Amino acid sequence: MKLIYVLNGPNLNLLGKRQPHIYGHETLEDVKQACLQVAAENGLAVEFLQSNSEAQIVDWIHAAREVASGIVINPAAFTHTSVAILDALNTFDHPIIEVHISNVHKREPFRHHSYVSGVASGVIAGFGTQGYLFAIQRMAKLVREHEAVGASAQD
Ligand code: DQA
Repeated sequence: MKLIYVLNGPNLNLLGKRQPHIYGHETLEDVKQACLQVAAENGLAVEFLQSNSEAQIVDWIHAAREVASGIVINPAAFTHTSVAILDALNTFDHPIIEVHISNVHKREPFRHHSYVSGVASGVIAGFGTQGYLFAIQRMAKLVREHEAVGASAQD
């Protein structure tokens, strides 16, 4: 079974308690369980992680380089600030999907720019926590395609 990382940035540990009118009532544990289920249905295993530390997220991206076939990432506020996370993602040779629970484009102008979007195969925003599940379904297809291209390159 191929492994993907689902990475979550700062304050997402408070999901369900934090601004529920924007981010909803589900907890991050609820999201994790739903991700594990959809991933299993799509033949993927998931390492689901959250940190409030930029350095920790960079380290997890480095770890993913060794073991993961894809990264789904909600960098949260680091989306709009972190060249370090962009640089780390640029070292990852497999598909990346960026997820935002809220529609960042409907919100404050500083949320309209993402450092991560330029390296992502796709961006999902504004579908609530369901966006993670869409991302995993899409990732399953991208991983299959990516492996097929890799295999044919070795022929
Ligand atoms: C977020 C949007 C970001 O702008 C914000 O800083 C977050 C969460 C989202 O999932 O909608 O923390 O990434």
